[in-house]
Amino acid sequence: MAAKSPLQKKTSLNKRYQLFSQQVVQWYLEHGRHDLPWRRKVTPYRIWISEIMLQQTQVKTVIPYFKNFIKKFPSQKSLSDASEDQVLAAWSGLGFYRRARNIFATKEIIKKNYGNRFPNEFKKIIELPGIGKSTAGAIMSLAYLDPHPILDGNVKRVISRLLKKELELLKEAELWKLSQEMVSKDDCFSYTQGIMDLGATICTPSNPSCSKCPVSSQCLSAFKVRSVKKNKAVRVKKVIVMNLSLIQTNKSLLLMKNETDSIWKNLWLPFQSGSIKNHIKNFKLTANQKINHELTHRKLEINLKTYSSAKEVEIKTNQTYKWIKKDRIEEYGLPKPISKVIKEL
Ligand code: ADE
Repeated sequence: MAAKSPLQKKTSLNKRYQLFSQQVVQWYLEHGRHDLPWRRKVTPYRIWISEIMLQQTQVKTVIPYFKNFIKKFPSQKSLSDASEDQVLAAWSGLGFYRRARNIFATKEIIKKNYGNRFPNEFKKIIELPGIGKSTAGAIMSLAYLDPHPILDGNVKRVISRLLKKELELLKEAELWKLSQEMVSKDDCFSYTQGIMDLGATICTPSNPSCSKCPVSSQCLSAFKVRSVKKNKAVRVKKVIVMNLSLIQTNKSLLLMKNETDSIWKNLWLPFQSGSIKNHIKNFKLTANQKINHELTHRKLEINLKTYSSAKEVEIKTNQTYKWIKKDRIEEYGLPKPISKVIKEL
């Protein structure tokens, strides 16, 4: 048989991607997770908030936070006058709080430069804080039905497996090129949501369900991926010890705003024990507990002392602090382990 000319080769490759994208679209229409809240009702604003939440958090964790955020701020306009504190409060517990600070910064830009309307051009969207090429691509395809490629961990895996490079992912530039060629020009919404669902539910990192996969007939690693989980190298996380003192009256809690550039920047925390030691003699120690909390890259050991105070005393400090009424604590951004302790007081 005569060898294919480069042009012929290109045509058949493109055909293969066309078939792939049609199959992904068809599969999404039949089997996709259509009831995810950001898919039921689609606006650029809702797509933006959901894509930022989904950057570092799984779908099932995001769902209640998304619903709660949208309940508080249903539209771009309703978010436009929110303070950073209010945005952080609506994000409380979801982690990676830089995302919430970026949402605050972005909505300020959208208010100032775009009359509270989310921009509809890729080059403007990618300039916004916290939005990279893949998130901007997702927003274009999902909110504006303008086909753009995406490339998150799931998509990298699906494409690499399709072309049989499972154990060594294809190079980033090559993956972007393929993702660009694959995105359906006819239904980029279903294609984009579909490839995300395929990666998350069928083409999983271990034990992929190849028998249920719509593209298994053309996938070069179908039924070949090892089904046992490889022993993942256990990464030793850095341990951070925090000594905190939580002071309360009957009705209020003494919290300070963490203005240092750390994981919990701009969230509200109990005072560091050392920084409040001159006041401690005026309070009564009521509990002493150790809380272990794991973050993605760190382990926190929080030694938390709880004290009661007869009244809301003034604290000598140059840190921002407040006596916050217990029934208004929901209005403040608190890290998960701290809000958990407060709920159990
Ligand atoms: N991960 C990132 N974006 C997503 C989306 N829109 N649906 C499901 N998972 C996602």
